[in-house]
Amino acid sequence: MPSRRTQTLSASNPASIDIAADLLRSGGLVAFPTETVYGLGADAANPDAVAHLYDAKGRPAFNPLIAHLAYASDALQIGAFNAAAQKLAAAFWPGPLTLVVPYQGGARVCELARAGLGTVGIRIPDHPVAHALLAAFGGPVVGPSANRSGHVSPTEAAHVSEDLAGRIDAVLDSGPTRVGVESTIIDATGPELRLLRPGGITRAQVEALIGAPLADAVPNDVARPASPGRLLSHYAPRARVRLEATHIAPGEALLTFAGARPPGTEQAATILDLSPEGRLTEAAARLYGALRALDETGVPSIAVAPLPRTGLGEAIADRLGRAAAPRPG
Ligand code: TXA
Ligand code: MG
Repeated sequence: MPSRRTQTLSASNPASIDIAADLLRSGGLVAFPTETVYGLGADAANPDAVAHLYDAKGRPAFNPLIAHLAYASDALQIGAFNAAAQKLAAAFWPGPLTLVVPYQGGARVCELARAGLGTVGIRIPDHPVAHALLAAFGGPVVGPSANRSGHVSPTEAAHVSEDLAGRIDAVLDSGPTRVGVESTIIDATGPELRLLRPGGITRAQVEALIGAPLADAVPNDVARPASPGRLLSHYAPRARVRLEATHIAPGEALLTFAGARPPGTEQAATILDLSPEGRLTEAAARLYGALRALDETGVPSIAVAPLPRTGLGEAIADRLGRAAAPRPG
C-alpha cells in the first residue's frame, strides 16, 4: 500500500475535530480515542475508504466492522431493534456495548464494512472526543481497534503509531483510554440475546437488566454466526504467553494481580502487577499497555498468574486466552 504521512492531532486543540472530520469525509483513515480502546475510523458509506482500512490493518475482509454513531437515536436509521435490544441500548448507551442487529441502513454502512452480512454491529461510544468527532462527521464511522490485525489493541495514541504510522492519515490523541478492553458485543438479531464477546459491560450488568442468564455464542451456527472476527489467536504480543502460571521459569516476565507472587518469582526477568490492590477495573485499563511494555523488554515468555474471572475478569481472561493461543503460520 502507498505510504501516508500520519499526523498526530491533539484533541485539546479545538481545530483538531474539524480536521479529523474533513479527513474522514475525503476518504481518509483517522484513529480516534473511545472509552475502551483507540479505534481506526473511516467513512462507513465509502467502500474505498473501508478497503484502505482493511489494508492498513492487514485485516481479513470477512471480518465485519462496528458502525460508531454520535447518538443512540441515529442507530434506528441503520438497525432494527427488538424490545430486548432497545432495553440494552437505553441502559448502556452511550457506553462500551456493541449491539448486533438486522441491518436496514441502505447505503449508510457499505457491504464491505458489513462483510456482506445482513446484520450490523452498532456502538455509541461514551467519550467526549469520539462523540465530538462523530457528531461533526454526521454519519456512521467504522471503528475497528487501531492496531495491526491480530496484535494487541491500543489504549494510547503512541500504541496506534507503533502499529500504523505511515499507513493512516491521522491519530487524534487524547491520552490513555478509561476502560482498556473492547466493548461487550451482544447478538440481538434473534429472540434470545447472545454474548459474542465479553467486554467493558459485564455479564452480571446485562443479566441484572434482562433478569435472565445471558446465552453464549453458538460457534459455527450457520443461521446465527458468532462474531466472524473472534479468531482464536488475537490480542497477541510477540512474546509467548503462558496462562495460569503457578511457577515462574528463569528469565520469564511475570504478569500478575493483587500482589500474587508464584514460586520462582525471584527468577523473573521483570514483574508487572496489573493492580496491586486487586481492582479488576484497573487491571482491564492496564492490560494491553502491560503486554506491550513487557514485549519491549524482549522477554521470550510472559507468565500470567491466575486472575479472578468475575466481572471484568471475564473480558480479561478472554483476551489473555487469545493472546496465549497458538499463532497461525
Ligand atoms: O470497543 C470496541 O468495540 C472497539 C472500539 C474502537 O469501538 N472496536 C473494536 O472493533 O473492538 P474490532 O473490529 O476490533 O472488533 C469488532 C468485533 C469483531 O470481532 C467483529 O467480527 C465483530 O465485532 N462484529 C462486527 N460486526 C458484526 C456482526 N454484524 N455480527 C457479528 N459480529 C460482528
Ligand atoms: Mg480488534
